[in-house]
Amino acid sequence: MTTASTPSSLSQTGTSTDPLRLIDVDHVRFYVGNAKQAAYFYANTFGFQIQQYADLTTGSREEASYLLTQGNIRLILTTGLSKDHPASEEVMKHGDGVKDIAFTVFDAEKTYEKTIANGAESALEPTTYSDEHGTVIKASIKTYGRCIHSFVSRSGGYALPEVKKGGRISPIFQLSPNLTINEYNKANPCGLKYVDHCVANVEMGKMNHWVEWYENVMEFKLFKHFDDKDISTEYSALMSKVLDSGFGVIKMPINEPAEGKRKSQILEYLEWHDMTPGIQHLAFRTDDELTSVAELNHRGVDFLQIPESYYEKVWERVNKTLLENGHEAVKEDHERIRELGILVDADDEGYLLQLFTRPLQDRPTLFFEIICRRGSQSFGKGNFKALFESLEHEQERRGNL
Ligand code: FE2
Repeated sequence: MTTASTPSSLSQTGTSTDPLRLIDVDHVRFYVGNAKQAAYFYANTFGFQIQQYADLTTGSREEASYLLTQGNIRLILTTGLSKDHPASEEVMKHGDGVKDIAFTVFDAEKTYEKTIANGAESALEPTTYSDEHGTVIKASIKTYGRCIHSFVSRSGGYALPEVKKGGRISPIFQLSPNLTINEYNKANPCGLKYVDHCVANVEMGKMNHWVEWYENVMEFKLFKHFDDKDISTEYSALMSKVLDSGFGVIKMPINEPAEGKRKSQILEYLEWHDMTPGIQHLAFRTDDELTSVAELNHRGVDFLQIPESYYEKVWERVNKTLLENGHEAVKEDHERIRELGILVDADDEGYLLQLFTRPLQDRPTLFFEIICRRGSQSFGKGNFKALFESLEHEQERRGNL
């Protein structure tokens, strides 16, 4: 497994008096209909290592889980083994999707208690998992819809630096046997490093409610680059605010649908997600957008296609902004960017390259973004028009406009 540092390059060796001092994104858990098959989908298409697993053969009687890793990204795919498992009901209602954005913290119990004191609703009281190698303590709170945030503190062989080196993530997991796909992925890396941001769709009129929830409960801050102008246009028909966890761990934009001429992409998501808010996309960071996207294309990742006309104006727009702010023009090969269908945007701090997949499952719900930042800390606002036109075209294809 390749290791990569988080932006803050923190290890879990220190302590902090602030219970809400997040160390890292510990993992992102998906509830899926068939974890064994989903593991191969994400391994084949996005280059994840199927690194660890827990199933009937390892003594896991209620659920099967697979830990997929790449860089500092840890995805856990979980499926219920009976109709009574909570994952079974959630998958029936929402399809495959994100259940838990879990954070590594210094003391899960203290973090949990602090968030409860701040007004959170409990999803799991502090629970200890330990064996001769070490201890994992986990506690969880509810956020929008069916999603939760778990807080995980780790010690001994389960400390985060050990996990990053390929050690087991918790006592219930076993290391995978040698898998051909893992060998292939080592030889053909996709270059995804960590979760850059994680976007939620919530119901109309609920964005500010959840912004305040993150401010009050998690003590996140509205991102300083937040543009408080309403970004709703005839194309986008959505509003969005960005929350920042601090410590360089994660940014969490929250979208709500707005009234537009046509059905909002956010409303389409909600309608296929049992009218329940949830995670719309996870953005994975790469240091080399062109190489990552070329490899992902080669593997058959289904990316959103942007009209050719986008590239007629993009260089003038982006390079003008960069030069006006004293930055160099986009250094990547412009023609190659066009060939790969990558989107580019710039602001006063620099530029970014980004590309979005189509939905990852049959319902038009969760998708991924592949993002590379060259100074810019924003989210590609300059691409919204082209992007939303493309998304509308996709909604039309699905009969959902
Ligand atoms: Fe994004």
